[in-house]
Amino acid sequence: MKRIDDLRAEALAGGGAKKIEQHHESGKLTARERVNLLLDPDSFCELGMFVTHRCNDFGMETKKVLGDGVVTGYGYIHGRLVYVIAEDFTVFGGSLSQAYAEKIGRIQDLALRNGAPVIGLKDSGGARIQEGVDSLAGYGDVFLRNVLASGVIPQISAVMGPCAGGAVYSPALTDFVFMVKQSSYMFLTGPDVIREVTHEEVTFEELGGAMVHNSRSGVAHFATESEEQCLSMIRELLTYLPQNNMEDPPLIESSDPADRMEDSLDSVVPPDPSKPYDMMEVLRAVVDDGRIFEVHREYAPSLIVGFARLGGRPVGLIANQPNHLAGVLDTLTSVKGARFIRFCDCFNIPLVVFEDAPGFLPGVSQEHSGVIKEGAKMLYAFCEATVPRLTVITRKAYGGAYIAMNSKHIRCDLNFAWPTAQIAVMGAEGAVKILFRRDIASDEDPAARRQLLVDEYNEKFNNPYIAANRGYIDEVIKPHETRPKLISALRSLESKRDGNPPKKHGNLPL
Ligand code: HXC
Repeated sequence: MKRIDDLRAEALAGGGAKKIEQHHESGKLTARERVNLLLDPDSFCELGMFVTHRCNDFGMETKKVLGDGVVTGYGYIHGRLVYVIAEDFTVFGGSLSQAYAEKIGRIQDLALRNGAPVIGLKDSGGARIQEGVDSLAGYGDVFLRNVLASGVIPQISAVMGPCAGGAVYSPALTDFVFMVKQSSYMFLTGPDVIREVTHEEVTFEELGGAMVHNSRSGVAHFATESEEQCLSMIRELLTYLPQNNMEDPPLIESSDPADRMEDSLDSVVPPDPSKPYDMMEVLRAVVDDGRIFEVHREYAPSLIVGFARLGGRPVGLIANQPNHLAGVLDTLTSVKGARFIRFCDCFNIPLVVFEDAPGFLPGVSQEHSGVIKEGAKMLYAFCEATVPRLTVITRKAYGGAYIAMNSKHIRCDLNFAWPTAQIAVMGAEGAVKILFRRDIASDEDPAARRQLLVDEYNEKFNNPYIAANRGYIDEVIKPHETRPKLISALRSLESKRDGNPPKKHGNLPL
């Protein structure tokens, strides 16, 4: 018994008191402190605590630390099973050895077999240099398991320190990446290599800090103020997710009445179609308790994506944001939307779309950045999604946006429109310019003629009734009825069964 106690104490000491002190001084929690904050109290069962590396080069034979720099095991979040991998920077800088990779692989295998999410807390200097190709092989084993588990169990990564070199690809292969502001960074090649190769001067933070990856590269989905906030957000995120792809997301009892009418929605869309408004206000007014767990908030803000509940049922929200670039679709919003839609579809989370988009952003830079290919990603994602799908058109549904934003033509189940909806090939001003350019130019009063034609076009096309007449819109609803209508629609789709033709896999336009 003494032997077990001694070994456990030795393992719990990680890289030793001095390393832990330095780690704390740098403002970071240790791997085990993180695990304890992440999980329900006293629920962690550690596995592989006595594993050590097998490297005998560079004097490593005398440097063995129980656990070898990664804390692995399982525990519970809100009473539901999760598997955890927490890298321990106090042991060899959290660098990955062959034995360390095997520990991670065992956790990934268990999680996959038992159908439970895996959470990786990253804090590592990358491949353990002393182990050479064995550590590279270890990464390969981890990446393979990340991919095989993709779409079967939720995989969440939180970068809480360095994450460099090829090590970045494990988080990149998971569903959601959290980063802690100021203390985490991710890059393939660091500032020193960059200085030598391209002569650019850049700091760790500028190159791969939390805000860079949240707002510019899109690699990360959440930037948190502290480690504590990060861990608490992971706990919250899991409340919207099923344990695996064979389950439905957890239904909770909602105290927000399902028949709640929201009068504020009747006046939210400004009478002037060129005026913006905040789609977040609309979403908050509709969903349970006004609570939205926004994903990728800092990235491509003309599209909002995130989780919420309607009548206690988790849903994935996808909404144009007229407050930012008029809610236009572009290369970045399309990729942001596509990724989120595909996640929800993997995990049986219904999609609820709020649409007010003037179309795809015109411009040389958009065309040259591949808006055709990028836009096709969102289109593809909606077309293949078989979960329950609802759309509410609040205002503009022009051109490609009408189709791409979850229209009936691409398998939306129920499409609602507010009376303020404008469903047309394009806006009145643009249409009149194309159709009547010569008429207007030759008129005695071009401005008056143009206005007349614009009014005529608006009267004829810019409303939801032609689409409703064709059956493309299932119901024109009053804005204040939106919440009860959506909750009722979701209920009616509870037993939805749909599928795609058998295939190895589709060929998403990457
Ligand atoms: C072995 C490592 C290590 C590594 C850090 N350490 N990284 N040991 N292999 N990759 C050790 C250090 O020697 C040191 O040991 C301890 O961890 C803490 O490191 P420090 O450098 O003192 O810490 P800090 O100043 O905070 O700097 C952290 C760091 C730096 C920025 C991460 O350590 C660093 O640049 N490490 C190397 C990063 C890197 O290039 N990794 C390889 C990427 S390539 P002592 O004994 O002094 O405490 C890669 C390929 C994977 O990962 C490919 C997969 C496909």
